[in-house]
Amino acid sequence: MCGIVGYIGPQVAEPILMDGLRRLEYRGYDSAGLAFIDHNQFQVVRAKGKLSELDKKLKDAHHSATIGIGHTRWATHGRPDETNAHPHHAKDVVLVHNGIIENYRELKEKLIQKNHEVVSETDTEIIAHLIQDHLNSSLSFKDAFLKSLSELQGAYALVVMDRNDPSRIYIAREGSPMVLGVNDNEKFIASDIPALLAYTKDVVFLNDGECGILEADSFQIMTLAGEPVEKEVQTITWSLDQAEKGGYKHFMLKEIFEQPRVLADTLTGRIGKTDLQLKLAEAESLIEEFAARDKAHLHIVACGTSWHAGLVAKYWIENLAKIPVNVELSSEFRYRQPLVNENSLVIAISQSGETADTLAAIRQSKEMGGKILSVCNVVESTIPRESDATLYTYAGPEIGVASTKAFTTQMAVLYMVALKLAEARQSLSITERQERLRDFLRIPSVMENMLKDIDKLKNEFTEKLYDNSDCYYLGRGIQFPIVLEGALKLKEISYIHAEAFAGGEIKHGPIALIEEGTPVIAVCLKNNLYEKMISNVEEIQARGATVFGIVSDDETHTNAFEETYTIPTIHPDLNAFLTVLPLQLISYYVADRRGTDVDQPRNLAKSVTVE
Ligand code: M6R
Repeated sequence: MCGIVGYIGPQVAEPILMDGLRRLEYRGYDSAGLAFIDHNQFQVVRAKGKLSELDKKLKDAHHSATIGIGHTRWATHGRPDETNAHPHHAKDVVLVHNGIIENYRELKEKLIQKNHEVVSETDTEIIAHLIQDHLNSSLSFKDAFLKSLSELQGAYALVVMDRNDPSRIYIAREGSPMVLGVNDNEKFIASDIPALLAYTKDVVFLNDGECGILEADSFQIMTLAGEPVEKEVQTITWSLDQAEKGGYKHFMLKEIFEQPRVLADTLTGRIGKTDLQLKLAEAESLIEEFAARDKAHLHIVACGTSWHAGLVAKYWIENLAKIPVNVELSSEFRYRQPLVNENSLVIAISQSGETADTLAAIRQSKEMGGKILSVCNVVESTIPRESDATLYTYAGPEIGVASTKAFTTQMAVLYMVALKLAEARQSLSITERQERLRDFLRIPSVMENMLKDIDKLKNEFTEKLYDNSDCYYLGRGIQFPIVLEGALKLKEISYIHAEAFAGGEIKHGPIALIEEGTPVIAVCLKNNLYEKMISNVEEIQARGATVFGIVSDDETHTNAFEETYTIPTIHPDLNAFLTVLPLQLISYYVADRRGTDVDQPRNLAKSVTVE
């Protein structure tokens, strides 16, 4: 899990590479480095820690090279220190790598026997020595590069330079993302689009099993066996502004506030505003074919926040379409024998589209005969490429490590899938479906209004919560996955120990944790579970808990709560979109009050492309 960049062209490479790395820091930030070729010598600068540390080192040296590569790391092999930081080099080879080389130990042994001096603990350095080894046997750089690729097992996105040829950069992709930016007289390389947007909107996505050679004014893409591949240049519609903070203190806050707009984007073109027809063009035939099967059943696989979206979807799909749904963590699913067959539809949910466990789960499901429908945000990422159909969320780039707008747009797509399945199965009357769709279309403007009035969350809630070491969450029904999500948000960015419980479960153990002043956030809405939730709140309040309520606007039991935040009335199926909003904001303001690094919380990275 890392971010990689490269540049070749007429401009000085260093500022372009640093700018690219800054936009990729969400992919990992335990060390970083750059390499240039100048007068047939490599100049390599590396630093442990965040990019600011590398910046300090670069101030001492002027690099005027117009070719260079860079890397921001999240350690997989070897400690996060300067020796293990990329770029890694052998005599004539320098490279950066994102991924994991599984057979590096065998390769390392062989190379050491041939007197290669390996200095780091990384799998990456072995690739540099492997290429050098083939150069030592008089192969051309291109042939040495291709031969080395044929010997690597595992995942990689690689960017390589030849000390003796400052006019070319070599690239390869197998299992880790890579995109090229192409202007007439310069070429850019990055793990993700935001790193390129300041320079070009014309991009080429590299597929797995492809490699290439870039020169300033041309590029050639090949299979790993060296056969030429024709690539289409695509134009990206995201603006750079979309990928930047837009005046907010943190990306996370900006992304929370973007939710009304990106939700509207996700619904646009899918729900007719006047005829209330639901169209999921990219997946319609897959959904209809599946729904027609007598033994149809669904598995939903995902990790983290995406898994919570899957748990919410189970309520919708089972209630509306009457199809059984198993929701599972990808990391568990992939290591057991799940009951997947030709009657299974497997929905893979992933913001990044690169999560290793989810990818493994869909590969396994395909082998067992299941069809894959993915719900992803990053276009052209690996999971969509390997799915039978993909419904994209139109959340735009999500930079904050804590997922917010990806979650609500995932729920939006999943709600549409539930309604489409219900339509195909005729399990919901047309009137009922239209009533739901009408309310669904209101969600963006309802959220927009909620975001205008958040002072209570920002002030009273935050002041009373920020100084605690523990915080518990309570919800029932569809609000149970929502409080799981609230607790995940709080723990990952504020480092407060946070746990969520289903209201009915507290008597079975968790209530023992409650003592005088223990903070509990309870989602307590006027629905069929309201009285039960109020009883749960009273039970913990009687044991000393300080309870903060996320409540409906016709709430009457407010004396049970220390503070309340009221959500507007909407169709009960859709409350999940509204209740998660205050939970996201509470987490953000509490973390900011505690002074943590909200966008890059410790030990976490945005895309988890390794196990
Ligand atoms: O890209 P994905 O949606 O597959 O990522 C899954 C999780 O890694 C992700 O949701 C993670 O839990 C977030 N940090 C949560 O905020």
